[in-house]
Amino acid sequence: MEVKVPSSRRPWRNALEITGARENNLKNVNVKFPLNVMTVVTGVSGSGKSTLVKRILAPALMKQLGGGAGEATGRFDRLMGVNGQVTHVEFVDQNPIGKSSRSNPVTYVKAYDAIRTLFSEQPLAKARGLKPSHFSFNIEGGRCEVCQGEGQVKIEMQFMADIYLTCESCNGHKFKQDILDVKFQEKGIDDVLDMTVADAVEFFKGQPKVAERLRPLDDVGLGYIRLGQSANTLSGGEAQRVKLASFLTKGATLQQDKILFIFDEPSTGLHFHDINKLLKALNALIEQGNSVLIIEHNVDIIKCADWIIDLGPEGGLNGGIYCSKARPRIW
Ligand SMILES: Nc1ncnc2c1ncn2[C@@H]1O[C@H](COP(=O)(O)OP(=O)(O)O)[C@@H](O)[C@H]1O
Ligand SMILES: [Mg+2]
Ligand SMILES: [Zn+2]
Repeated sequence: MEVKVPSSRRPWRNALEITGARENNLKNVNVKFPLNVMTVVTGVSGSGKSTLVKRILAPALMKQLGGGAGEATGRFDRLMGVNGQVTHVEFVDQNPIGKSSRSNPVTYVKAYDAIRTLFSEQPLAKARGLKPSHFSFNIEGGRCEVCQGEGQVKIEMQFMADIYLTCESCNGHKFKQDILDVKFQEKGIDDVLDMTVADAVEFFKGQPKVAERLRPLDDVGLGYIRLGQSANTLSGGEAQRVKLASFLTKGATLQQDKILFIFDEPSTGLHFHDINKLLKALNALIEQGNSVLIIEHNVDIIKCADWIIDLGPEGGLNGGIYCSKARPRIW
């Protein structure tokens, strides 16, 4: 399998326009960024892509939308075309989704709330007076307090990397026995946390509130991840796709939201199979009425663009020129 060239390109009407961009090596360029389509900013390393998108367009747009001051905006003259066509800007980077071992993909896409609630509704949970919070590993109540719901304990070493050992109190099951006794279709909360996303989507197919929130993780190619996998063990590319999945979840964004999603080299570290999934997710964002702007070298992503903004011709001083703007031709 390979990444296929799309059979058609989306046309566009509305665009944001930056005029007089001249930060770093940019040579006083005027650039239009089409909306409601997938635009890719290409060019050799050092040609000015990040400067244009991350130092000028994004901060200028955030300021105009009344967002936080953030970092200083690079030099430019005007930003035009916002007029309600964009309501938010979202960077989807490869930074970790949570530094602590407590957050994980399922809490990030808010699927865990529905899972906790489901467990608290089981007859045994009701008989024991258990609430959804008892099925949380983040707060006291139902979790094992020896390992604080992590299932393992850290042994700090003075001269070596820390060692993790299975918690002897819960045997790695993360919860107290009264909680583990509660089953949904013969599985305890610990079994659920051990399932892969793909298996969990199947297991919860009769529970739309849970399944709907898990499915986007599968859609972005993370079906193999375990629900309880710590966020700090995800690779950069995986973290990025978890973030993307959180925007694909039903109700995650409002009908009237028009978000400009910005990605800086999202293909980094991805196999073409995963690039296909990433592209599918990006297209889904556009179908929801958003816009996607990607800085990218990867040919498989570039060839799928609706519009290309090419900077160059070289890196550094000899770059910073707006070379071409085009709908990609047949590849
Ligand atoms: N903070 C900075 N100070 C000075 N020069 C910079 C700074 N950031 C980037 N540059 C220079 O600006 C040019 C464009 O950089 P950049 O926008 O990062 O390119 P790209 O993202 O296309 O690789 C390069 O020559 C780079 O060295
Ligand atoms: Mg860059
Ligand atoms: Zn424990």
